[in-house]
Amino acid sequence: MVENRLWMIKLGGSLITNKEKPYTVRYNVLRRLAKEIAMLHKEGYKLLLGHGGGSFPHISARKYRTVDGIIDERSRIGMSIVHRDAERLNMIVLRYLLYEDVPAYPIQTSAISTTNNDKIVKIFTYPIIHLLRNGLIPVVYGDVGIDTSKGCTIISTEAIFEALARELSKEYTVKIVMCEAVDGVYDKDPYRYPDAKLIPLINEKNIEPVLKMVGGSAWIDVTGGMKHKIETLYGLAKSGISSVIVNGRVRGRLIKAVKGLPVISTRIEI
Ligand code: IPE
Repeated sequence: MVENRLWMIKLGGSLITNKEKPYTVRYNVLRRLAKEIAMLHKEGYKLLLGHGGGSFPHISARKYRTVDGIIDERSRIGMSIVHRDAERLNMIVLRYLLYEDVPAYPIQTSAISTTNNDKIVKIFTYPIIHLLRNGLIPVVYGDVGIDTSKGCTIISTEAIFEALARELSKEYTVKIVMCEAVDGVYDKDPYRYPDAKLIPLINEKNIEPVLKMVGGSAWIDVTGGMKHKIETLYGLAKSGISSVIVNGRVRGRLIKAVKGLPVISTRIEI
């Protein structure tokens, strides 16, 4: 294990919930991932967790068009409902982590940051830094963004990870592991083309065609799907913060990714 290294691990919304069915948790996946996280924690790895919203806030966020801002008389109650939905899933994730004796501590994304036209411009990392120093595991999540220009928006886990990674990399060597419901990024939509091939590495040589390819696919949700993920992670890679996307449905891949062992994945690094 490398001293002073911080692993930021995302549990994707499609991984821990069933995005087709409102408010449906994939309990078996969550239980197993909580055990893997507990093992890493017991071995001394310093972790920060984040999780997506999946079929909890994504559905209400679409209904109230929260990403468009305060646009009508339903937008304000929409903000509250979307946040409540995000927090409901957060409480479930917390329950599973605590059951495995993981000292997880939830941090409400919309209470430590504000956005301006969707971009996080202010973030208060002080509580997170002190939780980490004291051996706890902060847990952030995709949430409503309180937007100084349009009232509200949605902050994806990638966006909060990006802002946190930039701040926390002043103190730690930050590595990001994205646990998703797929093996990584493919050269074409794997749901439509059975001959799609996994791209093991995204760097300056192939970023353009990769973005073009995922941009044209149907993998879009309110926070922009795979394209948004790759753009954000590539931006971090350019600043020296590398990441790896692994399939969290397969036992052990998270642990292998954190330990730097060979694993089926897509790495984004320069
Ligand atoms: C979405 O967060 C949060 C809301 C819709 C409020 P993410 O964008 O990180 O979630 P997933 O992983 O796509 O579900």
